[in-house]
Amino acid sequence: MPLISMEQAVAALEADDVIAMPTETVYGLAGRIDSEAALKKIFAVKARPFFDPLIVHVENVTQAKTLAQEWPKVFDVLAKAFWPGPLTLVVPKTAKVNPLITSGLETVAVRCPDHSIALQLIRNVGTPLAAPSANKFGRTSPTAASHVIEEFENQVGVLDGGPCRVGVESTVLTYKNGKLAILRPGGVTREALAHELQRAGMKVEIETETSSNATPGHLPHHYQPECPVILLNGKSWSPAMLALVENQLGRRFDHVHEIIFPAEAHEAARRLYQDFRHFGKIPSSLIVIEKKHDQNRDEWEAIWDRVGRAASLKFS
Ligand code: TXA
Ligand code: MG
Repeated sequence: MPLISMEQAVAALEADDVIAMPTETVYGLAGRIDSEAALKKIFAVKARPFFDPLIVHVENVTQAKTLAQEWPKVFDVLAKAFWPGPLTLVVPKTAKVNPLITSGLETVAVRCPDHSIALQLIRNVGTPLAAPSANKFGRTSPTAASHVIEEFENQVGVLDGGPCRVGVESTVLTYKNGKLAILRPGGVTREALAHELQRAGMKVEIETETSSNATPGHLPHHYQPECPVILLNGKSWSPAMLALVENQLGRRFDHVHEIIFPAEAHEAARRLYQDFRHFGKIPSSLIVIEKKHDQNRDEWEAIWDRVGRAASLKFS
């Protein structure tokens, strides 16, 4: 402990324990879906409220369908195009899915992660794994094994799968009344979804519905690092703003770290949580992020969703 081997991870899961596993998006805190003790431990270790449902990780579409009462045709198309990958599909659940996983909802969120270690783990254990991001509730998600160790110290064994390739969480998607709705923007963009639907000759609208009603747990304040984040929408940081921020937040800051994103959104996503953690550890710090006009495109949507929820103050 805390770094563990595949054999140790399988043994821990078989003994109703939880472990941290790598995925392509962020590290997850995994437990067997048929172990109520493990499910309860996930909530306890994360200090997560029971109203926030968990994502179930499956080996493939066939396994996903064993948890679903209905599986819309449009999800066959999308699973074929994007699984394994950062797309979570919300479907009506069967009785087999413990209500602890779904916070009592009649639907369950499922995804097949694009990481060989996660897939191997699910296969070895032989049941799907419920796994929220492996961080304390409301905080920044971990994108490296070292982040999980920092978060939980010796409480949780971690399977190291290297740094996460995507760096932000999966896109959560539901299908209701003939329409798709994005409940949480993430690793798969709206444009990519629309493109695949068009290729399959399916005309389906894609709405966005990110209210806490539709997607419990995806709260207005979430993903927060250990120091405040300031979001500047089309505005530049100036030293004069520091006094304003200090006044509003009621404390002084000795270090202002401006995160300047690289031109490419994928690269920006990969680095975001790492920077949050790095700067958050420096005492008396403030993170400043400027949203530029050319960063409004679809592929930046997940990044601005997370920065917006992490931000303590926004200026435009
Ligand atoms: O990329 C990811 O999705 C990562 C990795 C580990 O797979 N997982 C992740 O899990 O981000 P978590 O627990 O941090 O976020 C899961 C979110 C919930 O907060 C909720 O917003 C949504 O997924 N969700 C889960 N079940 C749902 C359901 N039945 N209906 C609507 N939203 C649901
Ligand atoms: Mg999370």
